[in-house]
Amino acid sequence: MSSLTHKHIVLGISGGIAAYKAAELTRLLVKAGAEVRVVMTQGAQEFITALTLQALSGNSVHTELFDLEAEAAMGHIELARWADLILVAPASANTIARIAQGRADDLLSTLCLATEAPIMLAPSMNRVMWNNPATQQNCHTLKDLDIRLIGPASGAQACGETGEGRMEEPEVLLNAVASHFQTGALAGLKVVVTAGPTREAIDPVRYISNRSSGKMGYALARSAREAGAEVTLISGPVHLQPPEGIACVRVETAEEMLDASLKAVDGCQVFIATAAVADYRVAQPADQKHKKTQEDWSLELRRNPDILAQVAQRPDAPFTVGFAAETQQLEDYARDKLVRKRLNMIAANKVGQGLAFDQDDNALEVFWPEGHQSLPMQSKDRLARSLIALIAKRLHSSDNIIDIQHAKN
Ligand code: PMT
Repeated sequence: MSSLTHKHIVLGISGGIAAYKAAELTRLLVKAGAEVRVVMTQGAQEFITALTLQALSGNSVHTELFDLEAEAAMGHIELARWADLILVAPASANTIARIAQGRADDLLSTLCLATEAPIMLAPSMNRVMWNNPATQQNCHTLKDLDIRLIGPASGAQACGETGEGRMEEPEVLLNAVASHFQTGALAGLKVVVTAGPTREAIDPVRYISNRSSGKMGYALARSAREAGAEVTLISGPVHLQPPEGIACVRVETAEEMLDASLKAVDGCQVFIATAAVADYRVAQPADQKHKKTQEDWSLELRRNPDILAQVAQRPDAPFTVGFAAETQQLEDYARDKLVRKRLNMIAANKVGQGLAFDQDDNALEVFWPEGHQSLPMQSKDRLARSLIALIAKRLHSSDNIIDIQHAKN
């Protein structure tokens, strides 16, 4: 039985091109066992018909605040009480602004004001509108009001531009909603995982990188998802498909991974740094392909930012788990990183010929300030499940003050 069985979901749709994806989202929610009632703004009705949503949800669609027939049956207060959760997808810049201001001038904004159910919004807009300080300020206000934002994702936009502002895919939204009702060890929590290598350009065709395949990080993202978490995977260049139901941000360089991580950890409870981040980048990558005219060629390298340390040192740091890849003195070096980077936990693996990097199996020595556990050689999938279980146990232990109840609301 899915965590959404018999759950009452109000799906609010506001005006934006991504409204067409609300049809698929409705289908997925209904398939997962939820009872869905759709509320459309005036703008939404310009993009998709109420009839489509009515057919997919199996319920009549609500569009008017003052509707005598609706008031007799399912009026706005009843609908606000009926909801176990309100999801607004897409949430346009205008709808975000109106909900942030507590306006009640149409059915959807009134519902958001009148409900005691949790509210999630999936922003969808042009990248400039998303980055506008007014929108960002509204989003801060929403977070203060305990209204969850899912996304937005980055990529090609309907307006022809590329950037942040795309609505998350229906499957990711479905999983965010499902994870809210889940009872797994990480249910209702947001987890960010970094995976794979980074690539640092030397010139347009050459780069510095390493042998990380992403297998360990992708397995951890899947296991965290299985444990009920809402997962964001920040992946360097690998040949793996993003796991289902997980928001995946693709990056290439350490600096891009840092940017994506700092954005994703906002409001997350667990950060797992599995990526093999290049410690150095080329100081000045060449614009043109380097010609082999000289016998020797020296590259000036510059230290990359330490993503893990930056996340761990934030005042609102999540439960932070680092990895240590060592060829020798595994425990000494791992414990040193645990303390120096101010981590909650570190998973150390021995690396070298045929070990850890690009292998299907791995073994980990896991350290935290007061303890240690060995996870013997096994498939990365099984190892990931054991590590996630250990993280959940430590996270829920009394010495880690994480307000999990708050995170779930
Ligand atoms: O991807 P696979 O082929 O499955 O291989 C898995 C793995 C061997 C890559 C993985 O298990 C692993 O060990 N990942 C960490 C590799 C690494 O870079 O270790 P490190 O000891 O150099 O770094 C310590 C920690 O700091 C890591 O959590 C790393 O993500 C982080 N770091 C390092 C440098 C940097 N600039 N920023 C960072 O955040």
